Amino acid sequence: MCGIFCLLTASPTQFEWNKTVYEHLKRRGPNWSHDLSVRHSDLCCQCLFSAHVLHMRGVLTPQPIEDRAGNILLWNGEVFGGVTVTPEENDTAIISQRLMSCSSPSEILSFLSSIRGPWAFVYYQKDGDYLWFGRDFFGRRSLLWKFDVGFTTLTLSSVAAHTSGPDQFGWKEVPAVGIYRIDLKAVTEVVTFELYPWEKEGYDLTSICSDTTQVPSGCSAVLNQSGLLLPSPVSTLNTSTPDSINETEIQANLHPSIKDLEQLLASREKISEVNSLVDVLSEAVRRRVQSLPFKVEDYSLDTDQATIAILFSGGIDSMILAALADRHIPPHQPIDLLNVAFKLQEPKTEKDFVKNPKKHKNKITRPAPQTSSPFDVPDRITGKAGLEELQALNPDRRWNFVEINVTQEELQKMRRERICHLVYPLDTVLDDSIGCAVWFAARGTGVIREGDQKRPFMSTAKIILTGIGADEQLAGYSRHRVRFKMSGHEGLVQELAMELGRISSRNLGRDDRVIGDHGKEARFPYLDEDVVNYLNSLPVWVKADLSLPRGVGEKLLLRLSARQLGLGQSAVLPKRAMQFGSRIAKMEDSREKASDKCTRLLSA
Ligand SMILES: *[C@@H]1O[C@H](CO)[C@@H](O)[C@H](O)[C@H]1NC(C)=O
Ligand SMILES: *[C@@H]1O[C@H](CO)[C@@H](O)[C@H](O)[C@H]1NC(C)=O
Ligand SMILES: *[C@@H]1O[C@H](CO)[C@@H](O)[C@H](O)[C@H]1NC(C)=O
Ligand SMILES: *[C@@H]1O[C@H](CO)[C@@H](O)[C@H](O)[C@H]1NC(C)=O
Ligand SMILES: *[C@@H]1O[C@H](CO)[C@@H](O)[C@H](O)[C@H]1NC(C)=O
Ligand SMILES: *[C@@H]1O[C@H](CO)[C@@H](O)[C@H](O)[C@H]1NC(C)=O
Ligand SMILES: *[C@@H]1O[C@H](CO)[C@@H](O)[C@H](O)[C@H]1NC(C)=O
Repeated sequence: MCGIFCLLTASPTQFEWNKTVYEHLKRRGPNWSHDLSVRHSDLCCQCLFSAHVLHMRGVLTPQPIEDRAGNILLWNGEVFGGVTVTPEENDTAIISQRLMSCSSPSEILSFLSSIRGPWAFVYYQKDGDYLWFGRDFFGRRSLLWKFDVGFTTLTLSSVAAHTSGPDQFGWKEVPAVGIYRIDLKAVTEVVTFELYPWEKEGYDLTSICSDTTQVPSGCSAVLNQSGLLLPSPVSTLNTSTPDSINETEIQANLHPSIKDLEQLLASREKISEVNSLVDVLSEAVRRRVQSLPFKVEDYSLDTDQATIAILFSGGIDSMILAALADRHIPPHQPIDLLNVAFKLQEPKTEKDFVKNPKKHKNKITRPAPQTSSPFDVPDRITGKAGLEELQALNPDRRWNFVEINVTQEELQKMRRERICHLVYPLDTVLDDSIGCAVWFAARGTGVIREGDQKRPFMSTAKIILTGIGADEQLAGYSRHRVRFKMSGHEGLVQELAMELGRISSRNLGRDDRVIGDHGKEARFPYLDEDVVNYLNSLPVWVKADLSLPRGVGEKLLLRLSARQLGLGQSAVLPKRAMQFGSRIAKMEDSREKASDKCTRLLSA
């Protein structure tokens, strides 16, 4: 993980760092920082490159990398396949060497599209004076841009800073639709960039170039007409729909049980799909837990420090990640399970009740059990149950279940100081809720239990696995049920295609910025190219059967895989969104809608 930054300016004024932005970049890459600028006498503009590196594997490679031909690379990514990088090598150095050997745009594009893994990059190509930049196919790494008309300055950065005043030249996320190239020789008062698009479904390319909500104002984008496309790393989504919908064998059961899944495993011929999914996911997790900043065998045996942490609600997505990580992490190493809870509000007072008796009329007042704590939110309860399942699965593994409690005061303080800058330029109530929940979870500061004792704990794992992408691909959200009811399999397939297409702008850039702020790296096994490729190849009815009850039908194939892995009740837990499971949404104004602009982020 790195913080990368590039400023391209046609104005001769001296560049001055915005301290806030610099500090944010440095938090992403605490182990090395360096700036480098380029100015040629025959160029009318100059470029400043700034890199901040988090040391992850191999020998730390200083950035920006300038090769012997004078090309400059800023690389924020991981190579999990496609290009050979041995454990002793640094991937940044390899990428730089390979780019140097490319002699035409099509070679650069074809090399970049062969990389499997998340990335965002900026590359100055000396031969011809071009500036290249972009994000991987799914947009798993953040990259923002803004253009300042007055100074003819284009800025690219992993992370920015939120302004409390008017945001005239605001930052936007660089759309993960392709790779961009600027001809530096042609920079005048406007900056024009050429877009070489990914071969991707579900969006209109020409509209991207003219869409002023996406392209910074003052810049213009042109679609390259040469027909050069970046080949997609995954196959297109299988859109076939069943001829007839078979009656399901199990009755609509309000309390789905493991038996229902077992019955399905036995009756339906899905065993081969289940096995294939387990295999491909297992390999995706292996690649992500074994690319470590040091050799595993160097690791001391008696340490309680994990190298891998998982954002853990005890729900099926995170349980599967934990069960698979267990397969690939050496047995003596602990695994940190990060479980976040926002304090439940005090029970309503008598006065409240009198003021609004209607609201409480049908509520049964249940006396709280003696042991209940204001942090016993739904995700804490399922998290503890999930922990027991994992302990049963591998009793020898040390599972650090980190209870991360957040009070309203701390939430407000950290939102104001840090999180509002990381969520920015996204700005909805949902972005605020998820951004805050993920930030506190990823920080990993909480308590763990040892017998009856609790002790303060700080997770030092630099790699954080998250379950994002499972719901979008296997129809896990309740809106998928709504869509299925209204427009059948066809509608459902359309919805899934659309959601995978927009996941970069909805989630991934934000989550990368939020997690990167702790000097930790987010890794997304469900968005591994091979996993997506496999899921895309399956017809939708194999992945989900929304005629079955909640807790079974959505993400059916994943639930069957969980059973196959030996997981228990967690395999039939219905989806609970993080903002509700962690109860952060309860802390705030309950009347607001998830898609509303979040005033708390603005006033911060
Ligand atoms: C990288 O920086 C972090 C935060 O300052 C520090 O804890 C860590 O030891 C550094 N890693 C290396 C390999 O220097
Ligand atoms: C990795 O980086 C170090 C430090 O810059 C360098 O000495 C080494 O040659 C690099 N390794 C490779 C394979 O490029
Ligand atoms: C840095 O940029 C942010 C956002 O544009 C702005 O609010 C802040 O005042 C700037 N800080 C400095 C020190 O210039
Ligand atoms: C499209 O890309 C090719 C190859 O880089 C280049 O020769 C051509 O000039 C570009 N076309 C436009 C319209 O920019
Ligand atoms: C319905 O059942 C038949 C016979 O068991 C099977 O061949 C077919 O694939 C099933 N269709 C779906 C959509 O599951
Ligand atoms: C967090 O909440 C749990 C209850 O879920 C409680 O046992 C624990 O002591 C709390 N930890 C802190 C540091 O407040
Ligand atoms: C889509 O799924 C159907 C049914 O399993 C299969 O026959 C077809 O070959 C698949 N199509 C693609 C493009 O994978």
